[in-house]
Amino acid sequence: MTQDIERILLTRDEIEAKVSEVGRRITGDFRDKDPIFVGVLKGCFIFMADLMRHVDIKCSMDFMAVSSYSGTSSTGAVKINKDLSQDIEGRHVIIVEDILDSGVTLSYLKRYLMGRKPASINIVTLLDKPARRKADVFADYSCFEVPDAFVVGYGLDYNEHYRNLPYIGVLKPEVYS
Ligand code: IMP
Ligand code: MG
Repeated sequence: MTQDIERILLTRDEIEAKVSEVGRRITGDFRDKDPIFVGVLKGCFIFMADLMRHVDIKCSMDFMAVSSYSGTSSTGAVKINKDLSQDIEGRHVIIVEDILDSGVTLSYLKRYLMGRKPASINIVTLLDKPARRKADVFADYSCFEVPDAFVVGYGLDYNEHYRNLPYIGVLKPEVYS
């Protein structure tokens, strides 16, 4: 698996330090607000598991699974494969995403959840790739800004592989070309 990685962008230690810092910031910002963390599957699963262990407040968690409609991504159409199981009306929602790339997914998701009248919606993302932004969406909490390269590991995949790498690496272009 590691032979497919061109270089390590973020080490396990760098990720751990930053994720705990962001968890402490969220702890301070949402004290007494009983927020609901909404993880966007599958990419969020390792990040969210680590982040939540640094969030020291009363809160709940739920998950959604989404995918882009193939061929229509430019319209911003996103398919909901799994919806929330809890009511978010009046709740402080914190969306947990692996990477904010074009922003199409998150801007759709934010609008979709806004329709359910939450008290607020914040976005926390592990990675932010601002060079590729198409939609007008930003992260309230971002752990790392990354260059315009395809990255895998720590939950992020290429064709469902590499999610289990304990670091974030740049995939060798020959793997996907
Ligand atoms: P967006 O809608 O373009 O912002 O894309 C969001 C989704 O695309 C992310 O949740 C990822 O699943 C996927 N994605 C975008 N860039 C990368 C990458 O560099 N590596 C792995 N997945 C990516
Ligand atoms: Mg994703």
